Amino acid sequence: MTTTSPNFSPAEPVTEKDGLIHGVSAQELQALGEQCFDAKTRAYCPYSLFRVGASLLLEPTSSTAPNSTSSSTYPTSHIITGGNVENASYPVGTCAERVAMGTAVLAGHRLGSFKAVGVSTDIVDFCSPCGMCRQFLREFLGLETPIFMFNKEGKWIVRTMGELLPLSFGPDVLPPREEMRKTQEEDKAKVA
Ligand code: THU
Repeated sequence: MTTTSPNFSPAEPVTEKDGLIHGVSAQELQALGEQCFDAKTRAYCPYSLFRVGASLLLEPTSSTAPNSTSSSTYPTSHIITGGNVENASYPVGTCAERVAMGTAVLAGHRLGSFKAVGVSTDIVDFCSPCGMCRQFLREFLGLETPIFMFNKEGKWIVRTMGELLPLSFGPDVLPPREEMRKTQEEDKAKVA
């Protein structure tokens, strides 16, 4: 770890079920928080100076090789991280969430691999993933997947993917290509 982690605690009442928050244990949440705080310190953001860290908790069946060092007792091989990477050509910069998810996808993870997401910044408010990141994450997360947003003090709020992106468009919405081709051919035949 390159930073000392704060005490992570909820900023608003949360519902626990069997000692879990959206299926996430206290130990997993601690590791998720530590890892996105650590990732934040590695962000490349010389233009905005707005550091963002993201962490993706893998389902136990989806673990990969370790990608970070941590003092946590939780196996870090179960967590993939990212930080924002900016660019002198400003729009080219990439958010922390997309860096983390892109890394995970390249490691072979897909829909069903992810148990929770963590996001941390240096502000007192809670930074939620931007619109583009919500859509990017939606491709690979279940709508019930919790996204924990940590403020600079380690306080957090949580919302599910479906809450952050209601009525969303995802791969499940696209009909099979064959079906689309048939519809278009039928349409063309009607005009001819
Ligand atoms: N940023 C993220 O990395 N994630 C978000 O969810 C919001 C914004 C980054 C993009 C840019 O590098 C900096 O924060 C300021 O917008």
